[in-house]
Amino acid sequence: MSLVTTTEMFKKAMEEKFAIGAFNVNNMEIIQGIVDAAAAENSPVILQASSSAIKYARINYLMKLVEAATSEYPNIPIAIHLDHGPDFETCKLCIDNGFTSVMIDGSKYDFEENIALTKKVVDYAHSKGVVVEAELGKLAGIEDDVNVSDSDAMYTDPEQAEQFVKATGCDSLAIAIGTSHGAYKFKGEAKLRFDILKEVKSRIPNTPIVLHGASTVIPELVEMCNKFGGNIPGAKGVPDEMLHEASISGVSKINVDTDLRLAMTAGIRKVFTEEPNAFDPRKYLTPARELIKNTVQHKIKDVFCSSNKA
Ligand code: G3H
Ligand code: 13P
Ligand code: ZN
Repeated sequence: MSLVTTTEMFKKAMEEKFAIGAFNVNNMEIIQGIVDAAAAENSPVILQASSSAIKYARINYLMKLVEAATSEYPNIPIAIHLDHGPDFETCKLCIDNGFTSVMIDGSKYDFEENIALTKKVVDYAHSKGVVVEAELGKLAGIEDDVNVSDSDAMYTDPEQAEQFVKATGCDSLAIAIGTSHGAYKFKGEAKLRFDILKEVKSRIPNTPIVLHGASTVIPELVEMCNKFGGNIPGAKGVPDEMLHEASISGVSKINVDTDLRLAMTAGIRKVFTEEPNAFDPRKYLTPARELIKNTVQHKIKDVFCSSNKA
């Protein structure tokens, strides 16, 4: 199978109540680890790259790697998506280079500006057969020091979500229900606003919902990093049970980057510590890639429930 758009993937995910994992990529080993896991589980998968990942990997290398993945696994639906497109130009660059979907992240703008920017991207993308994810609401992390009265304003307003989708024609919508990017998501107990998810879903039942900042910050991987010379204290993510609940409650795409960073780093650190004389990159990148595969496979199978949905 060549690259597929997310439209068909999301249709099935909404009908059959599961979520599709969207995993951030920036090099060959990460891409291979992810697609090896998706193939082992016979699951659809979304590969996504941020604008800084595209700068790092270079867009032509990235697209060739993704193309290699699709020809290695012709029976697995694979999409390539721009994550957090900052502006129209970056979205256009990706659309013109064969991305199957783009995200325009207008969440930093006010409601009207977000609508105008998103609509501009939607018009161009749709004219080229590409689909668009937009974002409404703000994903604050604990480092953002949001006070309690402000925190309500950060969550997605369900009524605005309905207006936004109507006004922009976007194909999927990322919402803020308490997740945040990175390894430090909660100070105390993890808490997500499932009530807001439910309300949004009831207002836009046909629009796939996306959850950003959805890494578990897998404790075993953090421990492994720390055991082998790392220093990542107090890291905390979204527990698997909550992500599972989200997957069967209307969230169709779940974004994961931090857990892959931890897996790769843990794998490399272990070899560096245990075999200080090793200097062949394959020696440490092979176990790192294997850890990425295991991490993704666990999410697909046990959390997102997308096994055998290819
Ligand atoms: O949500 C952001 C992703 O984790 C990508 O991060 O811009 O450092 O590649 P990045
Ligand atoms: P994490 O930092 O929780 O992995 O979130 C990734 C993400 O939302 C990418 O868009
Ligand atoms: Zn994100």
